[in-house]
Amino acid sequence: MSFRYFDIFLDAFARGDEESAEAFGSTVHWGYWDAPDRADGTTADFVSAAERMNVEMIELAGLAPGQRVLDVGCGFGGTLASINRRLRGMNLVGVNVDERQLERAAEHVKPANDNELSWVRADACDLPFDDGSFDVIMVVEAICHFRSRARFFAEARRLLSPGGVLVVSDFVPSSLLTPGMRSWYRTMGLAFERHYGHVDVTYGIRDYRALARRTGFLSRREHDVTLNTLPSYAFTRRLMWRYQLPAGEAIANDSINRAMAWASARGLLRYMLMSFEAV
Ligand SMILES: C[S@@+](CC[C@H](N)C(=O)[O-])C[C@H]1O[C@@H](n2cnc3c(N)ncnc32)[C@H](O)[C@@H]1O
Repeated sequence: MSFRYFDIFLDAFARGDEESAEAFGSTVHWGYWDAPDRADGTTADFVSAAERMNVEMIELAGLAPGQRVLDVGCGFGGTLASINRRLRGMNLVGVNVDERQLERAAEHVKPANDNELSWVRADACDLPFDDGSFDVIMVVEAICHFRSRARFFAEARRLLSPGGVLVVSDFVPSSLLTPGMRSWYRTMGLAFERHYGHVDVTYGIRDYRALARRTGFLSRREHDVTLNTLPSYAFTRRLMWRYQLPAGEAIANDSINRAMAWASARGLLRYMLMSFEAV
């Protein structure tokens, strides 16, 4: 399976586009800025904010040496690369549906610090691992692509023993926005899906809490970090114009980005970091 936005990145890397490789060659997620008003729009600033997002997720998961960690929807492996640099004796597994992303991850991320590292092609909703195989499962900005959050949570619960931790970052609409998101989807959904594949950003915080209860998790932490991520929109919008996409696609992407930025700046669309404990 492939995604148009990843095709664009992989083509850019293959052409030797260094700015794209620096910005998205390791992680493909929003940045986290302590002081968003001081974001300077440079690629170096975005890359350090994207790495800071890794650190936020690592801290939220409470990772400790020697743990078994699964990163579902691992992209080019940037989050596992960060864990690999910071912690020892880890068993790290990245899962993705897109073989080409896994190939890049395997080429660029090599085990260090007595860690084991492997890359597995699989769908998030049907994971080929034994019950209780992991201590921590991470999903960084990927769950909105999965066919069913319910199916994924059930799989995650199966793979964790009691006390195991699931951490998720996601775009979560406020209850005010949810009906608006659904009608926006009716008009922009096709353009959205053409570029990003299947995406569902209509899942609210109450949906997450109910899902956690139904699937054997306790909802532990909910961090709204929307304000810390806002500079990501202008940065990614600038980079997207470099790719000289067909005019209709470029304009649709730009409108999607602006609509999400507008809703995020008003607290209608939140960027949430959430943790759940298996019970
Ligand atoms: C926005 S990217 C995030 C990548 C990575 N987590 C990161 O932070 O750099 C979304 C990722 O989810 C992956 N993905 C989408 N649907 C998936 C599925 N059903 N199962 C596994 N991975 C999936 C995509 O291939 C892509 O790597």
